[in-house]
Amino acid sequence: MKSTVTMTDNRTEKSYEFDIIEATRGPSVVDISKFYSETGMFTYDNGFTSTASCKSKITFIDGAKGELRYRGIKIEELTLNHTYLEICYLLLNSKLPNEEELQDFDLELRHRSLIHENLRHLFQAFPAGAHPMATLSAATAALSTFYYDHLNISNEASYQEMARRIIAKIPTVAAFAYRHSIGAPFIHPDIDRSFSENFLYMLRAYPGGKMHRGRNGEHIIKDIEVKALDTIFTLHADHEQNASTTAVRGVASTGAHPYVAISAGISALWGRAHGGANESVIAQLKMIGSVENVDAFIARAKDPTDEFRLMGFGHRVYKNFDPRAKILKGLQDQLKNELNLDSNLMQIANKIEEIALNDEYFISRKLYPNIDFYSGVILTALQIPTSMFTPVFVIGRTVGWITQWIEFKKDKEMKIARPRQLYIGK
Ligand code: CMC
Repeated sequence: MKSTVTMTDNRTEKSYEFDIIEATRGPSVVDISKFYSETGMFTYDNGFTSTASCKSKITFIDGAKGELRYRGIKIEELTLNHTYLEICYLLLNSKLPNEEELQDFDLELRHRSLIHENLRHLFQAFPAGAHPMATLSAATAALSTFYYDHLNISNEASYQEMARRIIAKIPTVAAFAYRHSIGAPFIHPDIDRSFSENFLYMLRAYPGGKMHRGRNGEHIIKDIEVKALDTIFTLHADHEQNASTTAVRGVASTGAHPYVAISAGISALWGRAHGGANESVIAQLKMIGSVENVDAFIARAKDPTDEFRLMGFGHRVYKNFDPRAKILKGLQDQLKNELNLDSNLMQIANKIEEIALNDEYFISRKLYPNIDFYSGVILTALQIPTSMFTPVFVIGRTVGWITQWIEFKKDKEMKIARPRQLYIGK
């Protein structure tokens, strides 16, 4: 027997029945696609707190339990046993790669990491000091001009090629965005370096690829740094229908080029309520300055008349510890002895966490530390400049956006995203 929900309009006593569609995990949904044609009314759901915008097989989150899975596999298992490139393969192909598939995938991404010289010249049009998120978004949109003719919408291999190309090029574009922001010459990707190492290389190297520091000229990229960055990319790889993914799907629904859709995702991610929080967390920890000042800032965060919010706290979906934050906290402890973690920032962060997790305001609202609360301290230890924190999020998330784009394109039920409104004007 099919399950339904019945709704009665108490003005007319008329009842309406809507089908329930069962999920394989998590909440079922009520199919209200005929709500307007049957009732003459729209539904109102400010911020989409109760709305499923699509059917998806990519990522599952249980916000109450603090659980995250990519293609059914728990994030803890993925970060422990697999690299970021394996995660990219998993998201795109619904299965982890075998050794040969991984090698081919890795090799192809290395070969595709160069960007067209003309795209490099685009950066000259931007003012000195331009924020890398702005130039990254613009340059990603501009990438569509180089690959416009190559996209065959009806061909699966063409989708996959387009996906691998953007995953491979985004770190290069992001690194160029940074080098432009500080007026440094661009460093081209090095085909002999892995995905995550290459990004650190493009940020740090001198022209000619030289990279030594200290009296002994020791190698500047440590394995532990590469591994930590790889884990950070994995943790950011996808997060179902968040604001930036919704932007990507919204643009996809109009039939626009996928790289323009990704550019929209980058723009949406930039805001402080979303990916931009990682940059704001560090700015806030620095503003707090010392452990003695934490209480005063917690009081501000709780004050309804003050707009101040604790950056890196709270989440629309997680009403428990963000599992990504838990993994990063573990990584932070692991790195403490091996990298130069800023102990003052860590002490302030630990104090905020301790107070907030025991404070009635945060407990009653189920506000826990999220991924951005911990990523900043680790990214600082990896010598990644603060302005590049959100671009790091972009690099990790590009695979998620493009996988969601492909899923959208293949979904026969999908239509142009076109919500309605409750008109309250003249
Ligand atoms: N500090 C203080 N109070 C908060 C915070 C915070 N960080 N977050 C939420 N609240 C309060 C909020 O004032 C409200 O209180 P009340 O019910 O008394 O009005 C209540 O908690 C619910 O907040 P909301 O804004 O309705 O919740 P939301 O689901 O719409 O917003 C959020 C989620 C992430 C935008 C919000 O928690 C926030 O602004 N956090 C800080 C920014 C941040 O860390 N963002 C990164 C999110 S995780 C990475 C990502 O996926 O992008």
